Amino acid sequence: MLLITRIIPDAVLARARAEYQTRELRHTGPFDPARLLSNLDGVTAILCNASDRFDAALINALPAAVKVIATYSVGVEHIDLDAAAARGIAIANTPDVLTDATAELALMLMLMAARRAGEGERLLRAGQWPGLTPTFLLGRDVHAKRLGIFGMGRIGRALARMAHGLNMEIHYHNRTRLPAVLEEGAIYHESDADFLGGIDFLSLNAPGGAGTKGWLNAARIAMLRPGAIVVNTGRGSIVDDDALIAALRSGHVAAAGLDVFNNEPALHPDYLTLENAVLMPHIGSATVETRNAMGFLALDGIASALQRFDKDQ
Ligand code: DGY
Repeated sequence: MLLITRIIPDAVLARARAEYQTRELRHTGPFDPARLLSNLDGVTAILCNASDRFDAALINALPAAVKVIATYSVGVEHIDLDAAAARGIAIANTPDVLTDATAELALMLMLMAARRAGEGERLLRAGQWPGLTPTFLLGRDVHAKRLGIFGMGRIGRALARMAHGLNMEIHYHNRTRLPAVLEEGAIYHESDADFLGGIDFLSLNAPGGAGTKGWLNAARIAMLRPGAIVVNTGRGSIVDDDALIAALRSGHVAAAGLDVFNNEPALHPDYLTLENAVLMPHIGSATVETRNAMGFLALDGIASALQRFDKDQ
């Protein structure tokens, strides 16, 4: 039996129902571990998503019959991987298939933040468009600027390829330098100061978790050039919200485009007051094609984990 915590696309659900007996919780609000635990009778596999937190306590409370947890996300920081490994529970996620959709959203946020697209639409809808004047709603060019990518993994590299089309110069910062074939001409910076001090746009494309928590803090924001633009499609936890909000207020950061937040969906309320913040509700991979592909990949991961388990018996 496959337990599915959330509402999933029809095509994925149809395949899940064809391959397994399913129990569908169709959760919409915050994750409810107690409801999950009371629905696990006969369940061998769980399909969850990135807002379902499988901490050690929950994993340790799962019945022994549960062999695999698949998450409808590339990110796995919501699952205690050590606790799962200790219980012999396999974890499946959905890398690769969401790379381009998420990079597209990062590009969209760069453009929207630089060109003040949110402000413009709000003004127009409020009937406050005064008409065309040479100084109305001036934004910043994106083309030919320097883009800095923090986290040059699959999504960061896809964004870099897209940004080449805008004639941007690509800089990046990772724990380790990539081989030249993956760099595709991007310029590596080992030090934060070199990296942050030389870019016009900063895109956060790193994963969440302890290694990146609070990385964009007040000290690193101060290293950015005045007027830099910050985009985050990685995880909210990478950003110190108070520091970014202060920089958006002072104008040191000219604008931000954010798709991910600390404590989703209850984002820091001050973001809502900032005209120079473009805010999206975590939709990086939310396209029909990509969400279908993610679901199919998660089902593949479940099938191979269950097969491995049967073979080992
Ligand atoms: C991911 O795949 O990690 C995205 O953030 C969507 O959950």
